[in-house]
Amino acid sequence: SAIAVIVVAAGSGTRLGHAEPKAFVPLGSGTVLSVAVDSVLGMRETPHLVLVVPADRVESTRSRFAPVAEAAAAEIAVVAGGATRQESVAGGLAVLPDSVDTVLVHDAARALAPALLFDEVVGAVRARRRGIVPALDVVDTVKRVSDDGRVLETVDRSALRAVQTPQGFPRASLDHAYATAHEEFTDDAALVASAGLVVDVVPGDVRAFKITVPADLHRAEQLVAEREA
Ligand code: C5P
Repeated sequence: SAIAVIVVAAGSGTRLGHAEPKAFVPLGSGTVLSVAVDSVLGMRETPHLVLVVPADRVESTRSRFAPVAEAAAAEIAVVAGGATRQESVAGGLAVLPDSVDTVLVHDAARALAPALLFDEVVGAVRARRRGIVPALDVVDTVKRVSDDGRVLETVDRSALRAVQTPQGFPRASLDHAYATAHEEFTDDAALVASAGLVVDVVPGDVRAFKITVPADLHRAEQLVAEREA
């Protein structure tokens, strides 16, 4: 029973204010994407790895990660992404080998998510045979507001979670949900839930934050410096 990890890295990441797409921005001695790949290759069981990148970066990404794959004795496939995150994930799903029965989908932008978090998600998917998403409690007070900025109500945050990636699923569930999806969702858990399937949360990790704005990149640099020291 094999694991696959699909790392989606085909977004433009304009909020980061860099010329390169976000996953290709320098981080530590590599890039956002290479730091994410290092975590995945630190998993207890080496997975099939699929990197979904902008179409014009497929060839260069293949060359960049060929030696990494060889050194880790891992399969690393590189495919072109789509116009939306959901299309990019679908592109990754399309190239998985038949032997794969557990699929994790991960945002390259969550580059510092530790290998242990991937292992925990895999363990929970296998034990419970359902979708598993890492999630953190919401620490801020959350308000619902009107279009013109008026506070309407305070939402009970005890029932809210901020969800992260890697999100893991039995392969059949994810294939089924993607085959039947008729709308766009911002994460795979929402897509799988829309297909009527159960998704559970497990404790997330603060290091799995999404690099979105320049301050996030600064924080990522500090964490990578500690990791590389
Ligand atoms: O834009 P956002 O931060 O939600 O993107 C989350 C992840 O999805 C990023 O790692 C990004 O590279 C990826 N993505 C993608 N293809 C798209 C849009 C986003 O692979 N068309």
